[in-house]
Amino acid sequence: MTVETAEAPPASPFERVGGHAAMRAITDRFYDLIDEDPAYAELRAVHAADLSDMRAQLALFLAGWAGGPRDWFEANPGKCMMSAHGGIAITRDTAGQWAEAMTRAITDTNVADRAIAETMADVLSRMARGMARE
Ligand code: HEM
Repeated sequence: MTVETAEAPPASPFERVGGHAAMRAITDRFYDLIDEDPAYAELRAVHAADLSDMRAQLALFLAGWAGGPRDWFEANPGKCMMSAHGGIAITRDTAGQWAEAMTRAITDTNVADRAIAETMADVLSRMARGMARE
């Protein structure tokens, strides 16, 4: 007879990075960079003047995407991030700016697990660049 031990499931990237606080800090740094650094002016111009709702939405998306609470996915059933951007004119330049700003935001944020955060930056950058259509 085998004795089963109750092993805890492996921690999700969400938990390893530092939970909601880390996702919100990354998102705030990302939009601060886009707001302030002229290198992202083109990307800034595509967005609405008021980014406060985007700060909340992107942080919640990242939480669920990284294996944490799925509030964003429950509020947006069946919504795919790639097709949600189908109506936005995304160029190679603006996609590259998104990828670069997100990578910088993750580098600048004090996260619990640097290696998993860098993996997140890499995957998000590739997703963003994959959204370019022009
Ligand atoms: C991995 C890549 C990306 C992720 C995870 C992401 C995430 C999001 C999220 C969560 C929203 C809010 C919409 C909602 O909650 O339904 C959004 C909206 C938006 N995204 Fe992205 N995005 C990405 C790439 C890009 C890129 C490359 C552009 C370049 C132009 C872009 C431009 C926009 C714009 C213009 C909006 C609408 C914002 C507004 O109403 O002002 N996104 N994105």
